[in-house]
Amino acid sequence: MKKIQIGSQEAQVGEVDELCGALADEVEALIQSRAEAGKFAVLGLATGSTPLPLYAELIRRHREEGLSFANVISFNLDEYEGLGRDHERSYWCEMWENLFDHVDVDPENVSVPPSLSDDPDRAATEYEAAIQAAGGIDWQLLGIGGEGHIGFNEKGSALDSRTRRVTLARKTIIDAAPSFGGEENVPTHAITMGVASILEAKRIVLMARGASKKEIVHLAISGEVGPDVPASFLQNHKNVGWFLDGDAAGS
Ligand code: PGA
Repeated sequence: MKKIQIGSQEAQVGEVDELCGALADEVEALIQSRAEAGKFAVLGLATGSTPLPLYAELIRRHREEGLSFANVISFNLDEYEGLGRDHERSYWCEMWENLFDHVDVDPENVSVPPSLSDDPDRAATEYEAAIQAAGGIDWQLLGIGGEGHIGFNEKGSALDSRTRRVTLARKTIIDAAPSFGGEENVPTHAITMGVASILEAKRIVLMARGASKKEIVHLAISGEVGPDVPASFLQNHKNVGWFLDGDAAGS
């Protein structure tokens, strides 16, 4: 893995297994230091294809090296509106399939934004309150959407946005269509943590893989900071890490 400078930011560039090794090291160090202090580590987790090899590495460390998730509390970034926990395309299911089912996390300690509430505003406020009650997010993992979203904070999302109901961008729906068997099956709305909610995390890591992300990654890292590319707001976070494979870095 090597460090490269992109605008004012330093990015880590490497093979996917190197990136995942470094990110898993961060998670492991956090979990262990908290465990030694008798405390919980609060993780902010993401869905999508990007983090899958990281989750596989965390599962491997659990199985082969005894990394325990017993003192982990996790909050996911977002969830499709209307998809319950029994829906195979819900992010709830995705997280269980790809991580939680395979580690020793207490099911009581994992949360995904509420997707079925008849009062989304209240449910969103409660989600934020639960994060605060856990002590805030220690380590937040992010992917990046084709137009620069983080969570489902689509283009136009403000710096002070909080957890809320959002309308999904056309590009997000198109990108999700294959896994839903067609655009018409993709939910049009979601609940997402806001930009401000994400920026409150003590450490944020954004991971991007593949040439299709190269342009947006560069805009996020070194373009103008603003709601046109919500991921650009991370430039002003005091402890952000950009983890890119060679294709996303364009190197
Ligand atoms: P992906 O999605 O990991 O499937 O590319 C990232 C995102 O939309 O945030």
